[in-house]
Amino acid sequence: QSGLYRHSTDQPVACPPRTGNVSGDVRGKPSGYFGVRRMVEGRSENRTRKEIMCALKKQVPLSVMKLGDGPFSGDEWERSFPSKSLEETLGPLRSCAVVTSAGALLNSGLGPEIDSHDAVIRFNSATTTGYSQDVGNKTTIRLVNSKVELSGSSPSDLYRETKGTSPHIQYRKLFPEQPFYILGPAFHWNLWDVIQDNSVPNIVPNPPSTGMQGIAVMMNLCEKVSVYEFLPSHRRTSLCHYYEKHHSWSCTVGSYHPMKFEKLLIGRINQGSDEDIAALGKVTLNGLSQEKC
Ligand code: C5P
Repeated sequence: QSGLYRHSTDQPVACPPRTGNVSGDVRGKPSGYFGVRRMVEGRSENRTRKEIMCALKKQVPLSVMKLGDGPFSGDEWERSFPSKSLEETLGPLRSCAVVTSAGALLNSGLGPEIDSHDAVIRFNSATTTGYSQDVGNKTTIRLVNSKVELSGSSPSDLYRETKGTSPHIQYRKLFPEQPFYILGPAFHWNLWDVIQDNSVPNIVPNPPSTGMQGIAVMMNLCEKVSVYEFLPSHRRTSLCHYYEKHHSWSCTVGSYHPMKFEKLLIGRINQGSDEDIAALGKVTLNGLSQEKC
């Protein structure tokens, strides 16, 4: 489960397992912790950009939890659910930047380019303080996974103060005006289906990475999306995050998440050049509203 915050601070909730049939298809037996149903029919690595874009448009519309869905009912939740939709809160967006947390952003000098977008999404604990030359300053949305929420390891000092029991509810009390949305489980499992449909091997039955979910969110909200250091540039490095000294290649190529296959898929729908990837770590994607399917 992931949560989306408008601007500078973060939040989400525990992930209901994938039970039954999110996409409408029942193919194969549920497997793994989340009970994902593996797709066994129709996998292909040769679909065109247009076919993949139309699959994303049809199968992965942005869906957030509404009051009354699953466990989200009662007074506390009533107070914490925003009255406006995410689209209404943000308004129309032409150009958007997705800033992964990859170590390869260090020394990129991409900050001014990233900030020139109408909206910028960042992930989990990624801070801009001290790194604005490379990652920019602007944060329009922060997408946070439940692990970060439950550990309270967000970049907000105020959020850290809420650490303890029910950090989510406590945080919402501190920031009742901050629009906070919880992505519906169907969103990331439907995204998982599109990744599996376009990968011949079985992919791990775990949700797509937070970064991949953020790309899909922004493709739903924006006309054009620039993604930074999801496909690694010449600066590729084992440094996991630009903001901390931890080295592991699995952050870039994945182990828990089907990241290798996420990245292959994004490479297939990239409208930018190979030089942009090599020099800038930049992928350019059409927003889903721009595709006629
Ligand atoms: O590690 P974390 O999930 O907070 O990072 C945010 C996202 O950035 C990841 O989910 C992944 O999509 C992307 N990332 C990456 N390469 C890295 C680190 C993060 O592509 N080295």
